[in-house]
Amino acid sequence: MKDVYILGIESSCDETSASVVKNGTTEIATVILSQIDIHTLYGGVVPEIASRNHVKDITFVIEKCLKDANLSIDQIDGIAVTYGPGLIGSLLVGLEAAKTLSYTLNKPLIGVHHIAGHIYANNIERRLEFPLMALVISGGHTELIYMEDHFSFKKIGGTLDDAVGECFDKVARVMELGYPGGVKVDHLSKEGKVTYHLPIPLNDDSYNFSFSGLKSAVINLIHNEKQKGNTINKEDLCASFQDVVVKSLTTKTLKAMADFNVSNLILAGGVAANSGIREGFDALSKEKGFSFSYPSIKYCTDNATMIAAAGYFLYKNKEFAPLELNAESNEVLK
Ligand code: KG4
Ligand code: ZN
Repeated sequence: MKDVYILGIESSCDETSASVVKNGTTEIATVILSQIDIHTLYGGVVPEIASRNHVKDITFVIEKCLKDANLSIDQIDGIAVTYGPGLIGSLLVGLEAAKTLSYTLNKPLIGVHHIAGHIYANNIERRLEFPLMALVISGGHTELIYMEDHFSFKKIGGTLDDAVGECFDKVARVMELGYPGGVKVDHLSKEGKVTYHLPIPLNDDSYNFSFSGLKSAVINLIHNEKQKGNTINKEDLCASFQDVVVKSLTTKTLKAMADFNVSNLILAGGVAANSGIREGFDALSKEKGFSFSYPSIKYCTDNATMIAAAGYFLYKNKEFAPLELNAESNEVLK
């Protein structure tokens, strides 16, 4: 069978990325230009600045990726691009680049949902095994997705308010750890002990999560300790916060897996890079005997390799997008 080369393009937030993937699983070359240094100055992503930088970088990123892959654009079989969800101005840059290539070179355009991309990051180093439960945890999402087969996504639960990554970043901000905060909280937590009491949010029978109350609890705790003239032990507070996050995620996920009779669990999204969450599920998978996997860190945070990997399945099914495909900032995974 002829090899299929998909060019993936991702620009939904503050990473401009292009990647060539062979047959859905073999990464040939990837370029990721991160804007973190720019947005750090503002303590978070500034949408207008993000889209302007995507415009500046997108051509270079695609050209460099093809050069690194040692392929000419004519050898590419399809162009897969994130069309949503994400920042509208950022999404439009990658989408317009993909449409231009598709139209001028007469190559199929493949629209990929960003969360489908995060899930398919799990199909690069290993193969997905169905049925599975995907716990999608990122800066914008906290969702439990049940999958019976490729591209069959059934959302069974999600956050009622903040996403878990957003909560990590806000907690890091009030503790003045800098941006992006998730990884900083993760590192500090390794040096600390669970000493502060924080409530486990939405400790009920549903498959849903809630993180805004936990965020407020951390803010109140810091405020109260300051008023009493006490110094906060940042390492211990990070360890205590992360411990509650792990308890909330593991409890709900295990309940969902038992109810849906699923013994395969995958993590997806930037927060899947968190060491405490990985270790928490790892220990439970050994204790309870279910299979558990997650992508390498470079495939957890935003990248175009996962978009090309997901796009391959749509390509095989000839599920091509029309040139009218629009960027959708709040698109739901279907
Ligand atoms: O998937 P992603 O790159 O972008 C979105 O689609 O949202 O996820 C970014 C999120 C940020 O909130 C970041 O702080 C968080 O992932 N993150 C982490 C870690 N690494 C990245 N959160 C906790 N622990 C980490 N090690
Ligand atoms: Zn993402």
